[in-house]
Amino acid sequence: MIYGIGTDICDIRRIRASLDRHGERFAAKVLSDGEMATWKSRSARWPERGVRYLATRFSAKEAFSKAIGLGMRMPMTWRLCEIGKLPSGQPVIVLHGGLKEWFEAKNLSAHITVTDESEYAASFCVVETRAPHPVQTSPTP
Ligand SMILES: CC(C)(COP(=O)(O)OP(=O)(O)OC[C@H]1O[C@@H](n2cnc3c(N)ncnc32)[C@H](O)[C@@H]1OP(=O)(O)O)[C@@H](O)C(=O)NCCC(=O)NCCS
Repeated sequence: MIYGIGTDICDIRRIRASLDRHGERFAAKVLSDGEMATWKSRSARWPERGVRYLATRFSAKEAFSKAIGLGMRMPMTWRLCEIGKLPSGQPVIVLHGGLKEWFEAKNLSAHITVTDESEYAASFCVVETRAPHPVQTSPTP
């Protein structure tokens, strides 16, 4: 059953401006440790790739925050919500700490998709309630 949906559009120029103003500190506020490592290697090769990576992470996290109905309110924080990647390239939500506990206690699962064009990054997130495990019953004698 669908628990919630969320969408977000992010102006990449604003992300670029924040990075210009605050540098790595801005990226470190938004990205988890794992994402930060990816951001650094992408930025080192080509700064624009780093900007776009950060913008898609930013929009995906906002979309997720809306799909769970909290917005950026505890236990939802930027760094506790990580956007990982499957071997196929598909993005996946990986949660940490208190947010992971909150999400698992509600028996939820999430689906995320991201996209970007010249000046915008956008994301869409669907959060589902997982089907309860079937109750094991003993066969009647
Ligand atoms: C949800 C949130 C992350 C989106 O912020 P944003 O990027 O500035 O704005 P966007 O245009 O992307 O999205 C705004 C829309 O998100 C939706 N939204 C707001 N709170 C939401 C929530 N808790 N759950 C799901 N969707 C929400 C609303 O539809 C809102 O549109 P509206 O302003 O026309 O009502 C942000 O509003 C938030 O963190 N809210 C919670 C914290 C808060 O309320 N802070 C302000 C009070 S101190």
